[in-house]
Amino acid sequence: MNKTSHKKFTASSPGKFILMGEHAVVYGKPAVALAINKRLTCTISESTKLTINGLCVAPDDNSYVSRILSANNLTTASISIKSELLPGSGLGSSGALCTSLLTSIKRMLGKSHNRKDIASEAFEAEYRAQGRASPVDTSCCTFGNGIAVNCPKNLGQYLWTASKNGDTWDIFNIPIPKMTFVVGYTGIRSLTASIVEKVKKYKEQSPVAENLIDEIGNVTIDGMQALSKNDTEHLGRLMTKNHKLLASLGVSCRELDKLVNASLEYSYGAKLTGSGGGGSMIALTDEPGKVCQTISLHGGFPFIVSTSVEGTNVETGDLISN
Ligand code: MEV
Repeated sequence: MNKTSHKKFTASSPGKFILMGEHAVVYGKPAVALAINKRLTCTISESTKLTINGLCVAPDDNSYVSRILSANNLTTASISIKSELLPGSGLGSSGALCTSLLTSIKRMLGKSHNRKDIASEAFEAEYRAQGRASPVDTSCCTFGNGIAVNCPKNLGQYLWTASKNGDTWDIFNIPIPKMTFVVGYTGIRSLTASIVEKVKKYKEQSPVAENLIDEIGNVTIDGMQALSKNDTEHLGRLMTKNHKLLASLGVSCRELDKLVNASLEYSYGAKLTGSGGGGSMIALTDEPGKVCQTISLHGGFPFIVSTSVEGTNVETGDLISN
């Protein structure tokens, strides 16, 4: 049998959660995201077909993958994805997929690239796939650690700037103190594109939404200051306030509210994270065991995450056969 050897290229990216500022960041307001110790790993090699985890797929079966492949003039490839991040859980699985896939493609094609190139190309893919997006998720998955968008300049180290439709996002790396967070997954898949669209319609129809978005931006700036001073108690209170504003914006749900309220007894603060409507909430706590227990008792799926995690990284290629 005639066997062809193809080199395979692997890259992995961390998931993330949004500490403060989701949705408002889509309109150029500030946000903070932290990379977490759960990763998605993507391996790619040349192929005459398009396969994902060994299964043949039509090019638009997965819009993120299709968009990234076509932006790099590829129609076929053998892609394998291993993930510790549930899609739709609000923990950056699409950001981790876009950034690790792009990194492995660039290596396969021998194209030079840096983190800024990956973050900005992945942002384009997310923007197109979702209809609207901010660069916070893809920047956090690419650079790791902590990312602040449109923060006061003294709080972080400048990384890059994205602009779209009159909105500008200056993206900074920020130092992250050691903190414990519990994630509570509702078990409900969060559909980012439709929730982002719902907020857009609300904003077009009502000045109330505009005010809520401004207020989320203000609370997030206060949260950035609290984070920089390591003031956990104040940060927690601001997270809870952020949750209430997001609920007023219409992006929470009964299950998220239940898990947030239950966690507050043992936490500095708690809020939904990511697009909402399902997905996950986070609690800032030094009693993670008790928070996990209460989340389970209230129908959620808890786990503890740690921060200060590296961004997209690569593994060297080796030979496979097909
Ligand atoms: C999703 O993780 C965060 C949103 O703010 C959308 C975005 O920033 O692209 C809801």
